[in-house]
Amino acid sequence: MRKQIVVFIISLIVFLLSFSHAENQHKYVGVGKCKTCHKSAKAGEQLKSWQESKHSKAYETLATAEAKKMAKEKNIADPQKAPECLKCHVTAYNVDKKYLGKKHKIEDGVGCESCHGPGGDYYKKKVMKAIYKGEQDGASLGLIKPDEKTCKTCHNPESPSFKDFNYKKRVKEITHPIPKK
Ligand code: HEC
Ligand code: HEC
Ligand code: HEC
Ligand code: HEC
Repeated sequence: MRKQIVVFIISLIVFLLSFSHAENQHKYVGVGKCKTCHKSAKAGEQLKSWQESKHSKAYETLATAEAKKMAKEKNIADPQKAPECLKCHVTAYNVDKKYLGKKHKIEDGVGCESCHGPGGDYYKKKVMKAIYKGEQDGASLGLIKPDEKTCKTCHNPESPSFKDFNYKKRVKEITHPIPKK
């Protein structure tokens, strides 16, 4: 009897692991893909909003004297190569290369997909429109509706420069809505 329970629990774990694996399989396509449809005034200039925010510079920031000083205190030689820093300063850090599209670039820092989820299965125009109209579920295709929790995966006390994070206030600084038609 006990043996059967053990076998059952192991199968359950394997089953659950296969699920979490499947979820990671959406490919990261990179800002270079999103930008083709999200730069015009009609679309809402999401590209410009992002370019003007520090998220687009988050990788560059790791090369500054300030970053190097912060890293030195933790015995890190090069923050642009350190997992301890990259995990919050670039998109898809530590994701297997086979899930990174040709346009994915580390230099893009915290890109669209850091907040919206890997775009490989939702970036096509037909699919995007259907999601927007509510005719298609975005979540199962990898599209995340970013909220306070999304931000706090990076804006948290593990960040060496963390002070506080007021979602309502900070989200206004990066907002980039689709204009009402
Ligand atoms: C081929 C064009 C195209 C590409 C590429 C594209 N989008 Fe879209 N996206 C659209 C269209 C069209 C809409 C619907 C809104 C509209 O008509 O302006 C949309 C809507 C969205 C929405 C709102 C969805 C909702 O929940 O209502 C988000 C978020 C979004 N896109 C993010 C992205 C991200 C991130 C990428 C890159 C991974 C991307 N898009 C790539 C065309 C595109
Ligand atoms: C847990 C996520 C996280 C980690 C890990 C992290 N950062 Fe950051 N970093 C942030 C966030 C978020 C900001 C934006 C400022 C804020 O709100 O804390 C930031 C801002 C910065 C800035 C800009 C200066 C400032 O005060 O805003 C520098 C420089 C920096 N980080 C360097 C580093 C270095 C070097 C490492 C590795 C030793 C590192 N960060 C690790 C999340 C992180
Ligand atoms: C730091 C996180 C973050 C990044 C990076 C980011 N977004 Fe967003 N995006 C959001 C949040 C949060 C919202 C919902 C905004 C709100 O409440 O104003 C949003 C909303 C949107 C919408 C509009 C949805 C609607 O229904 O109006 C589109 C389209 C979109 N983002 C596309 C993009 C594209 C394209 C990029 C990259 C160029 C990008 N986003 C980068 C967090 C982000
Ligand atoms: C993948 C990690 C990550 C996520 C997720 C993330 N951020 Fe950030 N954010 C950063 C880093 C890193 C910086 C600092 C970049 C720098 O200074 O170079 C930053 C900077 C900012 C800034 C300062 C921007 C400016 O231009 O002055 C604001 C505001 C901000 N984030 C809001 C948000 C909000 C709101 C969300 C959630 C919708 C969010 N962030 C999600 C990592 C992240």
